[in-house]
Amino acid sequence: MQTKIVEINEQNLKLAVDLLLDGELIGMPTETVYGLAGVGTNPNAVKNIFKVKGRPSDNPLIAHVHKDYDISKICIVEQDYVKKLIDAFLPGPLTMVFKSNGVVCSEALAGGDTVAIRVPSHEGCQKLLKAIDMPLVAPSANLSKHVSPVTSQHVFDDLNGKIPLILEGGKCFGGIESTVLDVTCSTPRILRLGLVTQEMIKQVVGACDIAEHKESDKVKSPGVKYHHYMPNCETALFDFEDFDKALELYDDYLANGKTPYILCDGVLADKLNGRNLLNLGYDEKEIASNLYMRLRDGEEKADIIIAVLENKNTGIYDGIFNRLTKACKKVK
Ligand code: TXA
Ligand code: MG
Repeated sequence: MQTKIVEINEQNLKLAVDLLLDGELIGMPTETVYGLAGVGTNPNAVKNIFKVKGRPSDNPLIAHVHKDYDISKICIVEQDYVKKLIDAFLPGPLTMVFKSNGVVCSEALAGGDTVAIRVPSHEGCQKLLKAIDMPLVAPSANLSKHVSPVTSQHVFDDLNGKIPLILEGGKCFGGIESTVLDVTCSTPRILRLGLVTQEMIKQVVGACDIAEHKESDKVKSPGVKYHHYMPNCETALFDFEDFDKALELYDDYLANGKTPYILCDGVLADKLNGRNLLNLGYDEKEIASNLYMRLRDGEEKADIIIAVLENKNTGIYDGIFNRLTKACKKVK
């Protein structure tokens, strides 16, 4: 199969819809990362998503719908605060987990009784969802465990030959995946950290918990238990205080004829001028937006990515570190 990358216009949207209705999968841009989309009511398409990605079948998928879609067609809304969350954050990078009404097929829900629903704000994605007017289930369009894709080329690099079409939506500006929020209980609970933070949700609803994932727990958002986001090269993540050790490792690699790169924020990058750098930028949103891009750049040219980043403990930094600690081997 040849994988084509095409711009989003009327003709290509029609092509995408026809392919999807035939049970095929396509690469779909969103504002967070690219998704690997299939029709959520078609069990064969959904099974194929797991196969193409190499994803464990116990990890459920998010159903994506357009902004005027009536979500009560696919879920049961139990909590009154949901309306406030929709008004405040959708369309945007917030996924909510509801009781399913059985419309999205059970393969997509990994056999569970809840369905995760997301309304992406990416304009091209909205056009596709409007054109098909059905829930499209989509995990990130990377091979399982690899760094999530933020350009159409990243999707191509991982899935070339496995899917017929990728819609070109430019670089994803959000850069890390949506916040996943359980809204089946009286207090909403964050299952995966993202750009919509606990503070932001608290301001709207009054309260918001963060699920703690311990090794022994029966995990409520199964995706969080797996290794993720790993570049195809060596990695080392240092505490910010151990910055000197990171530089020592960098020098060791250089001395051995290898090519190390340092992944860091703009402030540190300015100080380290002259070394091989993967500069994440200055503020938290910019850093989130660049994270996967730089990890993918890094794996192309580095023998090792040495990450040193200060956690400023804002909600967004927590989301960034959640990804970074899974992507890179922590040096103690
Ligand atoms: O930003 C995003 O969310 C991207 C774009 C493509 O929309 N999608 C994405 O999908 O990150 P994926 O499959 O890579 O991650 C989905 C996460 C996983 O951690 C999964 O366990 C969780 O959402 N999830 C999905 N359905 C769930 C459910 N019913 N209950 C709890 N967690 C669920
Ligand atoms: Mg993923």
